[in-house]
Amino acid sequence: MNAPRHYLQFNDFSRAEYDYLFSRTRWIKERFKRYEPHHPLFDRTLVMIFEKASTRTRLSFEAGMQQLGGSAIYLNTRDSQLGRGEPVEDAAQVISRMSDIVMIRTFEQSIIERFAEYSRVPVINGLTNEYHPCQILADIYTFIEHRGSIKGKTVAWVGDSNNVCNTWLQAAEVLDFHVHVSTPPGYEVEPERAGLYGTDHYAHFDDPMDACRGADLVTTDVWTSMGFEAENEERMRDFADWQVDEDMMKVANPGALFMHCLPAHRGEEVSAEVIDGPQSVVWDEAENRLHVQKALMEYLLIGKIEGDCA
Ligand code: CP
Ligand code: NVA
Repeated sequence: MNAPRHYLQFNDFSRAEYDYLFSRTRWIKERFKRYEPHHPLFDRTLVMIFEKASTRTRLSFEAGMQQLGGSAIYLNTRDSQLGRGEPVEDAAQVISRMSDIVMIRTFEQSIIERFAEYSRVPVINGLTNEYHPCQILADIYTFIEHRGSIKGKTVAWVGDSNNVCNTWLQAAEVLDFHVHVSTPPGYEVEPERAGLYGTDHYAHFDDPMDACRGADLVTTDVWTSMGFEAENEERMRDFADWQVDEDMMKVANPGALFMHCLPAHRGEEVSAEVIDGPQSVVWDEAENRLHVQKALMEYLLIGKIEGDCA
């Protein structure tokens, strides 16, 4: 049996594979908008394992699998044996004998890596403490839809150097663009944890205004990610000056977009004027999770499809 291909972090795929996935996403999305059925994954089963909460990820994977002709099963830690100490390796062997593809949202990246090692089927990272590759897949597809290629462009990241930030940084290396990061002191990017090969695709700015200057896209995320709730009060104080507001958008390039993976907290990491304003594309960004993940699941299960396929 051939080892399955997994999608555990952004740099698991090459630039050529992303080119394919983005063009395939466009094809899948256009068909979906015309209500044309596309069932390449007929009879296939996706298992979704959630150890953290979700709205978009669950919905987009479950709806996406159904729209591709397959079915999806939801498991969570609370009411499966996963929460009662069954080893990840055992769960992986069992779950992957009963399904065709698995998506996991969990805590440490090492958990999903252990699962993947023992899985007979492809495993997709639906968010870990370290990475959120499906989110950045959707974000870059959204950028391309609005502005064309992201190559050579500048993305400003304002806020916590979390899973979403790390994934932007990996994407910059794979797809050759720049990320200007501004975090409060003590929350800086850790290149090794971010899984970076070099530092030449990102730069740190102490002042978030400097990070946003000349950016083509400004993006942020919650100050406290899932799993770090105990730090919430301290983070509220530390991040108070790292709210994306209209002044930051003004120093970005004219035509700069604003993105947020959601859920958002207006008045904390972003002002209501920005997230609900004309430069914000957050609803397209959320919708595109559905379309990119359909292309991703199709690619992992069938491979590259030349030309159209009904
Ligand atoms: N952006 C995102 O992953 O949202 P959920 O936590 O709702 O899945
Ligand atoms: N960084 C956030 C993203 C939520 C989609 C978290 O991990 O909670």
